[in-house]
Amino acid sequence: MQIFENVSLKLHGTMRLGGNTRYACDVTSENDLLEALKFADNKNIPVRVIGKGSNIIWQDSGYEGLLIVNKIPGFELMHDGITVCIGAGIEWDQAVKLSVDKGLSGLESLSLIPGTVGATPVQNVGAYGSEVKDTIVSLRSYDMQSKSFIELSNNECEFGYRTSRFKTTDSGRFIIMSVTFKLSLDAPQPPFYVSLQQYLDSKGVSDYSPQTIRDAVISIRTNKLPNPAIIANNGSFFANPVIEKEHFNKLRQDYPEIKSWTLQDDKVKIAAGWLIEQAGFKDYHDSETGMATWHEQSLVLVNEHATSTSQLLAFKQKIVSAVQEKFGIILEQEPELLP
Ligand code: EPU
Repeated sequence: MQIFENVSLKLHGTMRLGGNTRYACDVTSENDLLEALKFADNKNIPVRVIGKGSNIIWQDSGYEGLLIVNKIPGFELMHDGITVCIGAGIEWDQAVKLSVDKGLSGLESLSLIPGTVGATPVQNVGAYGSEVKDTIVSLRSYDMQSKSFIELSNNECEFGYRTSRFKTTDSGRFIIMSVTFKLSLDAPQPPFYVSLQQYLDSKGVSDYSPQTIRDAVISIRTNKLPNPAIIANNGSFFANPVIEKEHFNKLRQDYPEIKSWTLQDDKVKIAAGWLIEQAGFKDYHDSETGMATWHEQSLVLVNEHATSTSQLLAFKQKIVSAVQEKFGIILEQEPELLP
């Protein structure tokens, strides 16, 4: 395993911004990981483990530590024919494809989401009505606290909407090595997420299989979202805010067309993309910062020609302030700002 010095973090974040990391290395096995941790320990520097950097924003000041890029491989189908254990370093969409190729359902709605398998539990990745927490059985991780490899069950991950303990109370504590999913041989069942159902109907698709759903999601996402390999972005830049029913009722008087979902606890989730659009940022190109909102989905910020994270954060602040002023809602950033 080779350890490199002074590597640009622009190469390790899909927004392509940020300073340099003091050290960086790839790990492809548990032994590599232990070796990397020992190196950092000897130098008395912190470590940060990442996948593709699709949900990370690096500070311009860079990282005074060892950046470990998790490339741990593996895709193992268990004897029951429905449980798969997938290496954290496998590209997420590759994992979805492999499971769909085996006729397994459960991950197909999450097709084409950028990033690696090991990153998906951190923010409980979700799209088109499913979230990874629905199929994760357990995961194997290295616990920096007890300095040992341990299994965590689904329950122990403390999943929530776009969150988990890996992002909140225990940020940086666990290094995810592999994730075990329990999938199904049954066909995916309607009702599907509204825009997915509309797409299926418009194409006359009624044979719902993991493959037909995957194809539909790929087609919708390709039309609606920028490909991070071509256009620098972090996917949804904000989480959809959840507000009190009272606040929502007031807003609905002024904006009857507000896009929202009522949650089980009677709170209301609002479409952040809609709020951003209404605040004047639809297909907005900001010459001052080089940032823009994506024309088909205002929730996605794209880096057109920004050169620093401070420019991105300045653009973010413009949006947050405008939405707060108009709706009294504070949008929370979804990608993690590091360090
Ligand atoms: N909408 C607008 N304007 C916009 C964007 C959306 O009016 O610019 C409206 C849509 O018309 C729709 C509603 O808002 O009525 C919801 O939009 P959409 O279905 O696109 O979903 P979203 O809530 O904006 C979430 C995820 C996406 C995921 C889609 C589809 C979050 C933060 N984002 O977006 O995830 O692809 O649902 O399931 O929950 C990501 O996390 O990177 C991501 C792209």
